[in-house]
Amino acid sequence: MEAAVSSLHLSSPAIHGSLRTSDFMFLGVPKPPSFLNPKLKAFAAIRCQSTSTKEPKAKRNLLDNASNLLTNFLSGGSLGSMPVAEGAVSDLFGRPLFFSLYDWFLEHGSVYKLAFGPKAFVVVSDPIVVKHILRENAFSFDKGVLADILEPIMGKGLIPADLDTWKQRRRVIAPGFHALYLEAMVKVFTDCSGRTTEKFEKLLDGERSRGGDAIELDLEAEFSSLALDIIGLGVFNYDFGSVTKESPVIQAVYGTLFEAEHRSTFYIPYWKIPLARWVVPRQRKFHYDLKIINDCLDGLIRNAKDSRQEADVEKLQQRDYLNIKDASVLRFLVDMRGADVDDRQLRDDLMTMLIAGHETTAAVLTWAVFLLAQNPSKIKKAQAEVDSVLGQESPTFESIKKLEWLQR
Ligand code: HEM
Repeated sequence: MEAAVSSLHLSSPAIHGSLRTSDFMFLGVPKPPSFLNPKLKAFAAIRCQSTSTKEPKAKRNLLDNASNLLTNFLSGGSLGSMPVAEGAVSDLFGRPLFFSLYDWFLEHGSVYKLAFGPKAFVVVSDPIVVKHILRENAFSFDKGVLADILEPIMGKGLIPADLDTWKQRRRVIAPGFHALYLEAMVKVFTDCSGRTTEKFEKLLDGERSRGGDAIELDLEAEFSSLALDIIGLGVFNYDFGSVTKESPVIQAVYGTLFEAEHRSTFYIPYWKIPLARWVVPRQRKFHYDLKIINDCLDGLIRNAKDSRQEADVEKLQQRDYLNIKDASVLRFLVDMRGADVDDRQLRDDLMTMLIAGHETTAAVLTWAVFLLAQNPSKIKKAQAEVDSVLGQESPTFESIKKLEWLQR
């Protein structure tokens, strides 16, 4: 049976939001909640680059036809009545991958087989089917190419791990996501979102001083920075500060994601050839990027171990997370009594959460804004719910749960 691959690593649509000084919206909030600057009074006006199914598809060449044959052969031919998205490999490149995936979704529906290129994917976007695969029958599906691609990055982290390691680490990591931790995280989300809106506000002020009234933003990039800052603080208490600055570690994270995407769509796994990592420039860069991130994570693990305060899980879950300096998952894992783990496994766990929790969140936010921007009545509904539930208050874990329509 062909593996159903849940791809965590595909980029979202390139959305360029045009924000006006008089028309400002952030995540469906019509007027700024208290953590935003009250100078920004606003309504939504986000223009998005649209996707279109009418764009002419690239013509298939000899290589495409050969790779289609190979793909079908390797994946056991047809999959019952599942629709098959066919085309040229070049459809996958030249623009963000999600544009093509979205076009095929519109054409074929929420389950289809992507049957060209070197690999076959089953692309699923129906929540009921996703639940069936990931929750109800998780052990019936192989992660296939996803685990293969992620293993060099995440090692034995939860996503590519073998079953024994997964069971053992899952038991240890899951208690780290307890109620008080989540409550503290909502404050991290709020603070980091505040930094993003401050940045937008400064850009708008600058534009106003030059006589303009609109700025153009690449929202995918903005949400990526926001998500990176949040995941760094939440998982290992490290402030990337990527909303406002560049750094080698930030560049290395993006470089690594970029390489993962390249590997998931390239014809042959040339990176497995022994000398490739030394000879091929992009592979040299990939290993250089990995080293930068690993060195950073190793330093954080060393610091956390140096300041270890061992405690039972129950005691750890009762710490005053809203007021302690380090509420991170790393702190929890290092302090947990009886869960001594080697640094390599800990680093794999952190790397997995960093990579899995960053681009996914950014993609969801980008798509949410993209779709909302195309549905003015839905934006109004979202804004009304945020207004009535949060008013001028900062969000809390409890109040977020009341945003029922937005969570549907
Ligand atoms: C909206 C954002 C997110 C989406 C769409 C998403 C999606 C997914 C999907 C589809 C899987 C299943 C992968 C598989 O089993 O092959 C998964 C697993 C996982 N995700 Fe996320 N994720 C998101 C946010 C996060 C965040 C914020 C974190 C980190 C704190 C994270 C960490 C993980 C981990 C560790 C796993 C493996 C779980 C296990 O196998 O036990 N994800 N995610």
